[in-house]
Amino acid sequence: MKKRDIIKKGFSKLIKEDKLKAVAEFVENPSEFIALLKSFWHQDEKRQKQFDEFSENTISNYHIPYGVSPNVIINGESYIVPMVIEESSVVAAASAAAKFWGERGGFHAEVIDVKKVGQVHFCWKGKKETLLNLMPEIKAELLRNTASITEKMEKRGGGILDIELIDFTDKIDNYYQLRVTFNTCDSMGANFINSILESFGRSLQDFFARQESLDKEEREVEIVMCILSNYTPECKVKVWVECHTDELNGVYDQLDGKAFAEKFKKAVDIANIDEYRAATHNKGIYNGIDAVVIATGNDFRAVEAAGHSYASRNGHYGSLSYVEIKDDIFRFTLEVPLALGTVGGLTSLHPLANKSLELLGNPSAKQLMMIAATMGLANNYAAVKSLTTKGIQQGHMKMHLANILNQFGATEEEKGLAAEHFKDKTVSYSEVEKFLHTIHYA
Ligand code: MEV
Repeated sequence: MKKRDIIKKGFSKLIKEDKLKAVAEFVENPSEFIALLKSFWHQDEKRQKQFDEFSENTISNYHIPYGVSPNVIINGESYIVPMVIEESSVVAAASAAAKFWGERGGFHAEVIDVKKVGQVHFCWKGKKETLLNLMPEIKAELLRNTASITEKMEKRGGGILDIELIDFTDKIDNYYQLRVTFNTCDSMGANFINSILESFGRSLQDFFARQESLDKEEREVEIVMCILSNYTPECKVKVWVECHTDELNGVYDQLDGKAFAEKFKKAVDIANIDEYRAATHNKGIYNGIDAVVIATGNDFRAVEAAGHSYASRNGHYGSLSYVEIKDDIFRFTLEVPLALGTVGGLTSLHPLANKSLELLGNPSAKQLMMIAATMGLANNYAAVKSLTTKGIQQGHMKMHLANILNQFGATEEEKGLAAEHFKDKTVSYSEVEKFLHTIHYA
């Protein structure tokens, strides 16, 4: 059998060990590959099984550092914030920014709203007026048919908030949409929303099939799809820091506080008018947000999709944060949609996500929104501060040097010598290699 056939024929049905063996046929040294991937299996078989079942075709675990940013003050409360991220310097930058702003009143945060959205996309060939007239009856039936699913959520204070009919027939023939808004309380709510939407889809078809006053074609509804929307502009949090510009004296020895504040504002304004800069600027925000989102078992792809769509809400992609300077008060704000959960899904299943939430004092979803957004603002502040003062590379390179030295398997002594040597020099892979070579043959 050829190698490729092994993969094609029933791969998903193989046991994990055999999947690993089959895959290993594609690398140069299969036994080394198998041994390495196996070395990342959890010793506790039960725990490993739990991880295997989060996904499919799992052959190993992929480790990413789990760090913490201590002493993050949000609305007067102090948090130790867990951050899962592979990029060196993100946790250090967030922690430094948290310390700096902790001494200037801390971070201020407020949740603006928690509405989530789902859509039933459908096509119907009748007259729009007929549909509009039937809408009150349709809505009542849809709600009645989902009462058993919404009952528990309603007891917790959530449920379906609204069902709106949107007419898109000018863009796609016969195409309408039910845009449904939800409050899913402390859960991210994807399963809850999608179950309701699929039930709506079925009920919509049943409803029309029963309308004997309509002609045959009008009794048919094509349900194109039913799915939540990851664009959640109304599930939004605002976080900000502020201080007198005099309190920014000393941030950089070459600019006084006021000049630094103005330069910082200019950098943020640039991100607002230029999408090339905006993408990088917002990426710096998501360095902080994603790290918390991952640490707490939430969906970082959903969170990013929402944020980047929101950043384009005015028909132009811009910065998610902004700066105001008025009467010498510098205020730096981030407004960002964040659909997060603190119950259900991976938040309860992943043992570390669970412990992250415990470390944060078992927050509500609203509190978690404020915490994640704060780390976004902290990282954004740290990045823009570095960029507008001494540049980004100095800080990054220290971490980069550590990573390169580890790649070369440097000893602790070599690491010490390298840190001293590269204090005032540019770090690159080849320079580090040269340096290690020099000390070996000195
Ligand atoms: C790197 O991960 C993030 C930055 O590029 C963000 C920024 O430029 O604002 C430093």
